[in-house]
Amino acid sequence: MSTCKSCKKLVRSDQWWSLMVEQPWVQSLAAVVDVATQTFEGVALLHWAEKKGKHLAPNLALVRNPQVTLSWLAERSKNFKDHPLDAKEFFQYVATEQLAATGLITPCPHCGGELTAPRPFNLMLRTHTGPIESEDNLAYLRPETAQAIFAQFNNIKDSSRVKVPYGVAQIGKAFRNEITPRNFTFRSREFEQMELEFFIAPDEAIQLLHGSVAKWNEGADLSAPQPNWGWEMWHHYWVVERTKYYNDIGLDASVLDYHWQAKTELAHYARATVDILYKFPFGADELEGIAARGDFDLSQHQKHSGKSLEVFDDELRVAAAKLSEQERRVFLDEVAAEWVDANKSAQDAAIFYDKLFAGRFIPHVIEPSAGVDRLLLALICQAYDEETVADEKGKSETRVVMRFHPRVAPIKVGIFPLLKNRPELVQKAVEVRDLLRPHMNVFYDEGGAIGRRYRRQDEAGTPFGVTIDFETLGERGDELKDTVTLRHRDSMKQERMKIADLLPFLLAQVR
Ligand code: GLY
Repeated sequence: MSTCKSCKKLVRSDQWWSLMVEQPWVQSLAAVVDVATQTFEGVALLHWAEKKGKHLAPNLALVRNPQVTLSWLAERSKNFKDHPLDAKEFFQYVATEQLAATGLITPCPHCGGELTAPRPFNLMLRTHTGPIESEDNLAYLRPETAQAIFAQFNNIKDSSRVKVPYGVAQIGKAFRNEITPRNFTFRSREFEQMELEFFIAPDEAIQLLHGSVAKWNEGADLSAPQPNWGWEMWHHYWVVERTKYYNDIGLDASVLDYHWQAKTELAHYARATVDILYKFPFGADELEGIAARGDFDLSQHQKHSGKSLEVFDDELRVAAAKLSEQERRVFLDEVAAEWVDANKSAQDAAIFYDKLFAGRFIPHVIEPSAGVDRLLLALICQAYDEETVADEKGKSETRVVMRFHPRVAPIKVGIFPLLKNRPELVQKAVEVRDLLRPHMNVFYDEGGAIGRRYRRQDEAGTPFGVTIDFETLGERGDELKDTVTLRHRDSMKQERMKIADLLPFLLAQVR
C-alpha cells in the first residue's frame, strides 16, 4: 500500500495501474501522446498541463512544474530507440520533478501527486470477541472460506468415510480490508465466496500405486477422471469443469477469458493458478481463481496444531511393500531429488517417503474459488438488453429485457389470467400457479393489460409467461381446452401448450 503525499489517499500497489487507467486525467493525457510510436510533443503536453491537467491532476509534476518535467522526458527520449518507453514509465516521468534526487515518482491515480514507496498492510479485518477488548480475545474475520474446510478436515473425513480424491465445498461470507472498493459489487470488503477444496493424493503416491503419473499436455483427455491423474491433470480438469458451469448459466466462451498466473504472481501457497475472467463493461476481471495449493494448508495446520492430518491408504502400503530393495532405492532417489529441487530439505523428503511407504500422506488440494457477488454482477451485465419492438398496437417501443439463462433467472415463470374480472379465468390461473409453485419460483400477476404484465416480467428476466384465456376454459372448442399460451421472453413468440405438459417442459429448461 502507498499513500499520496498530497491528497493522502491510500492506493493498493498491486492495483495501481488498474486504478490509473480508469482515471479521466490518465485517459486524457494518454490521448495527447502516442506511447506506441514514442512520439511526444512538448508543446502539446504543456497545453494539456495548462488546460486539462490543472483541473484533473493538480498535483502532477507536469502541471506544477512543466518545464523541468519535460526536460527529463526530453533527456529520456534520446534513448527511446534502444529502450522504448512504456505507458507506465511515461506516467512516472510526468510525475517526476527532481529525477536526480528522487528517481522516478509513481503518481497518485487520484490527483497525480507523489505516492510513497509501498508498505505492507494487513488485508485482514481485526475485531475482538466478547465484551472486553484485550489482546486475549483478538479475532480476525476470515479472508477466505477455505480454512474452515482445512480445519475441519479430520472431522469431515471421519464422519463422511471418504477417500481421496474427494471435494468439500463451502459457500459463505469472507472479509478483506480492501482500501479501494469499486466497480459496484465487484470489489467490496464483505463478500460471498464459494470454494471447493478438492483433495487428491500427491503425485508420488500415484506413481507408487499406478507405476506412472498422467501429466497434462495439450489435447489431454479431461472428460473423465482417471486413477493415475497427477495434480496437473486435476488442475486442468477443474478449469474445464468450472468453464462448463459458467457456460451452463449463460456465460459462453466469447465472454470468458483465462489468465494463467506467472510464477511471480502466484500466492505463497500456490504451485499454479489460473484466473477465469469475465469481460465486464469496465474491463475483463476475475470471477474465479483455480489454484493448485499442494499440501501447503493441511501441512501448516498439522504443524501448528500438532494434530495429524494425514490419511492412510492400505492399497498404497501394499504397493510399497511389493517394491524390491532396488526399486525402493530408485524411487527414493527420484523423490528426494525432486523435493530438494523444490527447496525442501533431504530430511523432509526422508520423512515424507517413510510415511508414504507406510501408506500415509497429507492430501494435496486443487481449489476452485469463486466470488458469488462477482458472478451475480456478471450475470446481470450479461443479461441486460434493450431492444426496439412493436407493442400490441404496432407502435414501436424500447423494451428492457434481462436475458437471464432460465437456470439462473430469479423467477422462472409468470402466470397471468387474461382478465381479472372473470372468476373462471382467475380460478384456472390459480390452479396452474399451484401446480408449478412447489417446483420453481412462480410470479402470479392479474393486474393490468397483458402486454404490460409481459413487459414487467421481461424486466425481471422471467424466461416464460403462461396466460390462461378463454381457450383454456374450452369456450373456443374442446381441442384447445386445458391449453395455455406459453410466451417466450427472448423471442416473444407464443405457442399453445397443454397444462399437463407445462411442468415437464419448464423443469427441463430450468434444471
Ligand atoms: N481461497 C482463495 C482465495 O480466497 O482467494
